[in-house]
Amino acid sequence: MKVEIKTADAFSVPAELVAVGVYQNDNGNRPEHIPQDYQGLLNDAVARGEFEGKLMQTLNVLPAPASPSRRVLFIGLGREAEVTAQTIRKIFGHLAQITEKTKIRSVAMSIPVGQFSEEDAVTSAAEGWLLGAWQFEGYHQDSKERNLPDLYLSGITQLELAQKALDFGLMVATQQNLTRDLGYRPSNLLYPELLAEEAVRAGTRHGFSVEVFDENKLRELGMGALLGVGQGSVHPPRLVVMRYDAHADKTLALVGKGITFDSGGISLKPPTAMEEMKYDMLGAGAVLGAMCAIAETKPRVNVIGLMAIAQNMPSGSAYKPGDVVRAFNGKTIEITNTDAEGRVALADAVSYAAHLHADWIVETSTLTGAVLVVLGHEATGMVADDDKLAEQVIRAGEAVGERIWRLPIYPEYKDLYKSKVADIKNSPGRDAGTITGGMIIREFAGGIPFVHLDIAGSAWTKTGPLNAVDGATGVMVRTFVELAHKIS
Ligand code: BES
Ligand code: ZN
Ligand code: MN
Repeated sequence: MKVEIKTADAFSVPAELVAVGVYQNDNGNRPEHIPQDYQGLLNDAVARGEFEGKLMQTLNVLPAPASPSRRVLFIGLGREAEVTAQTIRKIFGHLAQITEKTKIRSVAMSIPVGQFSEEDAVTSAAEGWLLGAWQFEGYHQDSKERNLPDLYLSGITQLELAQKALDFGLMVATQQNLTRDLGYRPSNLLYPELLAEEAVRAGTRHGFSVEVFDENKLRELGMGALLGVGQGSVHPPRLVVMRYDAHADKTLALVGKGITFDSGGISLKPPTAMEEMKYDMLGAGAVLGAMCAIAETKPRVNVIGLMAIAQNMPSGSAYKPGDVVRAFNGKTIEITNTDAEGRVALADAVSYAAHLHADWIVETSTLTGAVLVVLGHEATGMVADDDKLAEQVIRAGEAVGERIWRLPIYPEYKDLYKSKVADIKNSPGRDAGTITGGMIIREFAGGIPFVHLDIAGSAWTKTGPLNAVDGATGVMVRTFVELAHKIS
C-alpha cells in the first residue's frame, strides 16, 4: 500500500476507483470536475433521493461506458460550510475501510477545498487513511489477509509543500497507530519491563535518548509513590525518561500514566469489564507515540517524555489503604483507595519533570471514571493552572481534530484531598472527581505551568479515532506533536 500525491484530477489518474466528494445540498456546486457521464448519474441519484451528500454517505456507481475498467464512488462531505480538516480525516478513514472490503487495488480522490490550506488537507487525508486502515492484528491462530489499496491524492496544486505535508501526516498517524497497538496489548504480554523496552527500541529507531529507571534506581531517587503502586506486582515499576534535544532554550515535558494493568489493587475493582484496564497505560503510550513523531519532525523546542509505569495488583506485598508513601519531591500521600493509583504513580514522574527544569508540564492519563460521566468518549477533560498553556493545548487539539474541555480549579476543592496524617490523600471521594485528580497531580509540578489531560473516556471508544473501529484511539499523539511545533 502506498500513498502518493498527483497534480492531475482524480479522473485523470489511472486508478481502479475514483472517489468523488459531494457536498450536501450543493445545487450542482461540485468540489471538482466530474465528467458528463457521471454527472448525469449523480444528478439522477440526487433527484431520486438516493443520495444527498450527507457526511460519510456513499453511492456506488458502476463503470461508465467510456472507461470500462473503472469504478466510481460518490462520498458525502456534508454541508460545504461545515467541512473541516477533521471531516477530511473522517472521509479518508471511511474510504480506507470501504475499499479494504473490495478487490480494488488503487483509489484516486481529489482533496476537497475549504477553510483550510492544501497542506492541512493533505496531512489530514493521509492521517485519516492510515488511521482508518489500521486494525489491531490480534493473536488468532490464522491471520487474515488484508487488501489495502494504493491511494492517490489528486488535484494537488503545490507539489513540494504537499509532499512535506503528506510525509508529516503519514509519520504522525503511523506513530498514533503504534500507540493504539500498545493499548490493545494485554498485560501478560505488555507488563512494565516490556513497556519500558518498547521505549528503548523506539528511541533507537527514531533517534531520541532513553533512560530506564528500574526499581533499584527508583528507591535510590526516593520515588516511593511509584514504587508503592507497583509493589504488589511480580513485575516491578519503571520510570522512563525520553529526551528529544533541539538545543533550544525552552523545554516541554510530556508525562504519561503507564499502568499496564489496573486491577484496583487491594481496593479491588468489580469484575465487570476489568479486562479493559489493560489500556490504563495509554497516557504513557501517547507520550511514547508523540516522542517518536516529534523526533522525526523536529520542532524547535526540547521535549522530555516521561512514562510512569507500574502494574496495580492486590497481593501480600501490595500497598494498602492507610499506607503513607513519600514522593520524589518529599511530599507525602496517604493512600485511602489503592484504585486511585494513577495520581500516586504520576506524583514521582511529575516531580521529576519539575526537577529537570521543564518550562511546561503537560501530563495525560486514563485517570478517572468520572470524566466519562462528564464528557463521555467525545472529549478529553483538562485541569490546568496556566491560562496561556491551557489555551495552547486546547488550540493544538482543535487544529488536529482532538477535543479538549477545560474544568475549573477552585481553591475550595483543595479541602477535599486534605489528610490528617500526610500532605495529601489520594482518594477524596466522588465529588469533583476529575478535578481533584488533576489538582492532586498538580501538587507535584513545583509551580511550573501545568496541564492535566484526563483521557479515560477519549483513549478507548466504541468507535475509534474516526468513529469507525472499536478500541484504542491513540488520542493526544497528534495534539502533542502539534503542541511541540506551536508552543512558545
Ligand atoms: N484507571 C482508572 C480510571 C478509569 C476508569 C480509566 C474507567 C478508564 C476507564 C483509575 O485508576 C481509577 O480507578 N480511578 C478511580 C479513582 C477513584 C478511586 C478516586 C475511579 O475513577 O473510580
Ligand atoms: Zn488506573
Ligand atoms: Mn485505578
